[in-house]
Amino acid sequence: MQPLADPVDLILLRESALLRATDPVVVVDDQGGALVDGLVAQYGAGEVRVCCDALTDERAVVAAAGRRPQVRVLPPGPELWQDVRGVVVRLPKGLAALDETAEAVARWADPSVQVLAGGRVKHMNRSMNDVLSRHFESVRGSLGAQKSRVLIATGTRPPGEFRYPLSAVDDELDVTVCAHGAAFAGPSVDLGTRYLLSFRDSFPASARQVVDLGCGTGVLAVLAARTLPHAQVLALDESRAAVLSAVATTEANGVADQVEVRRTHLSEGVPDASVDLVLCNPPFHRGNTRDSAVAFEMFADAARVLAAGGELWAVYNSHLPYLRALRRLVGRTDVVGQNPAYTVTRSVRST
Ligand SMILES: C[S@@+](CC[C@H](N)C(=O)[O-])C[C@H]1O[C@@H](n2cnc3c(N)ncnc32)[C@H](O)[C@@H]1O
Repeated sequence: MQPLADPVDLILLRESALLRATDPVVVVDDQGGALVDGLVAQYGAGEVRVCCDALTDERAVVAAAGRRPQVRVLPPGPELWQDVRGVVVRLPKGLAALDETAEAVARWADPSVQVLAGGRVKHMNRSMNDVLSRHFESVRGSLGAQKSRVLIATGTRPPGEFRYPLSAVDDELDVTVCAHGAAFAGPSVDLGTRYLLSFRDSFPASARQVVDLGCGTGVLAVLAARTLPHAQVLALDESRAAVLSAVATTEANGVADQVEVRRTHLSEGVPDASVDLVLCNPPFHRGNTRDSAVAFEMFADAARVLAAGGELWAVYNSHLPYLRALRRLVGRTDVVGQNPAYTVTRSVRST
């Protein structure tokens, strides 16, 4: 059994006593498999269905608990929620992600369902109660423990129209952006992404294989496809919400035949030295914590897939010390543009 070191896992598991007689239980966004493992091992839950947005979380759950016959990993949708009377969820960072999950529970789970949504108190706010109250008659907080708390929602409200993916038109870029709840920046264009795209006429015109690494809603992929009409574009992200959003965005903008979207960790599956251009707006957070590790992994991975002479175009917050890492990991790197908020770089893969 996994050690339950995480206070949010611990309090969620404590409150799961409420679900003791309830099967099946859905666990959303377990991060290391400890929650799923705890539900099965401590409470003897008969059937636990698991849904993770991030592929790395999903793999961790499979590694920790996937061999237990009671555990099933499923994508979001009616099959996940059917007949469910207990839901255990780690509160996501964004309200739209919580809203989309709560909407799905209210639509598809058993009306007697109880939702336990746990998080660190410092990351919780009143708006989370308001979002849950849109879909449930009653929302109350548990007693806190180790600076963590659980919101308990019961009594589903009748679901309305499907709201997700949201979509909006960006007039400046003439692009329709579609976004599921957990997708970065929602149905709008991130300012860093917009700044990177202001240099798109300088993308190498001869590029035939292009990767949008960490594609989010797929805005960079769509604009790359338009700017380089002879290129094939691969849009990659580990988030399921991002991938579903990017598929919808490419379809909404008429470039689905030129852009392939895949849910991957980094650019796994893309052969070494096979790509002419990588576009990347890397994350600098992991959950609620600042962390550049994924950005550096992305730069190293871009170097792996780039052919000699291929280019990585990246955008990042100007205060971040990424220039040295790009030169070390990829090759010669120039600053193409810089403003107080963002820096855009072009790195050329050395042989
Ligand atoms: C800052 S967002 C940029 C999204 C999009 N390219 C844009 O410009 O709007 C970074 C993206 O990287 C994705 N990501 C984070 N870690 C990843 C990983 N290990 N493998 C693939 N994608 C990852 C996130 O899910 C997120 O969508």
